[in-house]
Amino acid sequence: MDAVVLEENGSPRLVDRPRPEPGPGEVLVRIDRVGVDGTDREVVAGAHGEVAGSMVLGHEAVGSVADPNGTAFEPGETVVPTVRRPPGDYNEYFRRGEPDMAPMDATVECGIDGADGFMAEYVAVPSEFLLRLPERLAPAGFLVEPLSITAKALELVAASREPFTWERERALVLGTGSLGLLTVPVLEDRFEEVYCLGRRDRDDPAVELAREAGATYVDSRETAVDEIPDAHAPMDLVVEATGHAPHAVGAAAALAPNGVAALLGVPGDHEASVELGELHRELVVGNRALIGSVNAGYSHFERAVEWLDALPPSIVDAFTEHVYPMDRFEAALDSDVIKTAVEPHP
Ligand code: NAP
Ligand code: BGC
Ligand code: ZN
Repeated sequence: MDAVVLEENGSPRLVDRPRPEPGPGEVLVRIDRVGVDGTDREVVAGAHGEVAGSMVLGHEAVGSVADPNGTAFEPGETVVPTVRRPPGDYNEYFRRGEPDMAPMDATVECGIDGADGFMAEYVAVPSEFLLRLPERLAPAGFLVEPLSITAKALELVAASREPFTWERERALVLGTGSLGLLTVPVLEDRFEEVYCLGRRDRDDPAVELAREAGATYVDSRETAVDEIPDAHAPMDLVVEATGHAPHAVGAAAALAPNGVAALLGVPGDHEASVELGELHRELVVGNRALIGSVNAGYSHFERAVEWLDALPPSIVDAFTEHVYPMDRFEAALDSDVIKTAVEPHP
């Protein structure tokens, strides 16, 4: 079968690999679509660690059950795999059903670090790491994984604001990439005003989509993140989805008192001079919080399926417009359009 692999010190290649034989408790899944995000590009650039031997790329997948192999799944059911697997034996995080809370050295991530991903015609997946979704959502099912990232982050945010009356008026998303743009419509349903900051012209399709989803666009070349409270209003929530390290500090500065910023980007090293006293003081005297969040648990995937179902069709269309046959994976990886995906069986 065909698979897109990244090899040690190499570029991604389409190769022939044996079709996997599902082991006990594993389901054979025929992969229909695999989404591409900023992380995939970071993986190819070597930012998520060295590849030992070769690794199949891709972590945002949707497929259908080719062989249930004695599990509770039915042939043909539409499924989405989760991303994290135990690194060998099950550890406490996997035993508790909280793999998303495992430190990076207590997990591997399919298609990112330490385990094969899903950019292949077939994959074998332990049934506990598979989620069913309605067949009508299959064409956009590769959006469940990135939506699960937002679902987890918003759950952590809500828990941190739960003890008091949190005024949820304004939210700001940093980034017009695939994660940021998917987060805008989710926040639009939950906040009175949503802002989205990027560095592209107003007629760029990504910016147009942010506005169509209901956000007020802020061009960071005109208004820096920390200028947003004066230029617009202080924010009750900021979701950082750029991986641009100064945005962590900028996010804190954009917050209203009692506000919270969820940091999702995974930056490389970045040295900068920062007025730490102000940052520290404003976090404390304003009851503000900074939260980091990575990956997502099974319940977040389930919530993401509901959110996907609730997305306006025009938004879903924009996210599913650029699907390439898998032998054109390079076009999908190199693109800077809103979202791309590959299809192993076009
Ligand atoms: P993406 O599609 O590549 O989007 C990245 C966004 O950040 C784009 O809007 C990009 O602007 C902007 N950006 C990049 N560098 C910037 C800079 N130096 N200054 C200002 N803006 C900058 O990536 P994505 O898939 O949305 O992911 C965004 C980040 O979240 C990545 O770091 C990714 O690794 C991380 N991520 C984390 C999780 C998690 O579990 N925490 C899950 C998914 C993704 P342009 O497009 O205009 O260049
Ligand atoms: C993936 C997550 C993963 C994170 C860090 C994201 O792009 O969607 O599942 O945990 O990258 O590697
Ligand atoms: Zn991702």
